[in-house]
Amino acid sequence: IQSTASAFLVDKGNHRHFMLKEIYEQPEVVARTTAHYLDMANGKVRLPADLPFDWAKLPRISIAACGTAYLAGLTAKYWFERFARIQVDIDIASEFRYRETPMVPGGLMIVVSQSGETADTLASLRYAKENGQHVLAVVNVPTSTIARESHIVMPTLGGPEIGVASTKAFTCQLAVLASLAIAAGKGRGFIDEADEDRLVRAMMEAPRYINEALKLEGHIAQIAKSLSKAPNVLYLGRGTSYPIALEGALKLKELSYIHAEGYAAGELKHGPIALVDEAMPVVVIAPYDRIYEKTVSNMQEVAARGGQIILVTDEKGAEHAGIDSIATIVLPDLPSTITPLVYAVPVQLIAYHTAVEMGTDVDQPRNLAKSVTVE
Ligand code: AGP
Repeated sequence: IQSTASAFLVDKGNHRHFMLKEIYEQPEVVARTTAHYLDMANGKVRLPADLPFDWAKLPRISIAACGTAYLAGLTAKYWFERFARIQVDIDIASEFRYRETPMVPGGLMIVVSQSGETADTLASLRYAKENGQHVLAVVNVPTSTIARESHIVMPTLGGPEIGVASTKAFTCQLAVLASLAIAAGKGRGFIDEADEDRLVRAMMEAPRYINEALKLEGHIAQIAKSLSKAPNVLYLGRGTSYPIALEGALKLKELSYIHAEGYAAGELKHGPIALVDEAMPVVVIAPYDRIYEKTVSNMQEVAARGGQIILVTDEKGAEHAGIDSIATIVLPDLPSTITPLVYAVPVQLIAYHTAVEMGTDVDQPRNLAKSVTVE
């Protein structure tokens, strides 16, 4: 393990930055993480057998985390509600820890953290424990404080993440949380064997599709050049693409220092449309799904006001966009469950190449720490 860790730690390989190396490690580490929690051969979820609760009796699930880890949790909310039909409360940990939230004893608190040392997330874990919750940690460092203080630990097998901006940890967190949501659905009787097999096989495809997304790097780098001149950028998404829009905005902010904001696409009319003009690039995260047409109308509103659109979609979405002169990043058609894991790659690469164009310190952006161990 030491030799593996040291190989991770000192060697950027042939990449210019640790962040780019870690973006390219995603197929391998997501495959390692999914293989740990999913039984590929039999199409089944493989979770810790001795969970101290019964999925069918859980009153609700709470999730608390910070930054990119919070966005993994926000994505998981959609999965738990869809697969397991259970109510999920998700909070930014720094808000949760002070809100004195009433909690029904016997609930499940999931904390998500790459470092396992984030002060606000640790404080949220402790509040949940004091209020009778089972605490499950999704962490990348199994020896961390958060891991030690949790009842259940589900490690992400991302290996050390050196770049301050989280990339491979995020997609590994999504892989663990998706596996957990499938297990919850099975445990609560909403997912039968056929559903489980279908969802597990979709998850096993994620590394291959992440690889396909990585092949678009050259195209994305070209698009990023135009973004580097923008004072502000808007990211829009619906459903599980909404947390990816938020993640894209966070990545762009923390790496290139350009102000960027992620919004639920359906919120455009409720204010942000006032921002849109020809100087405002709008990145739209929209696979072709049951709500795609709603997002097309958002794009038409943006185009009508001269906004530059960058559409991240799939082949069907590109066919149905119906708007001229927009930049498109076209991914393969995917099983809907894994779109967040795969659509994370273009937003990571957009932020990375914009930062390179801007000449900022990609691996150690200004003012940021890899782990925020103080409030
Ligand atoms: C992610 O790119 C950021 N560097 C930051 O938001 C990070 O996700 C957040 O500080 C949480 O860190 P953790 O996962 O180690 O708890």
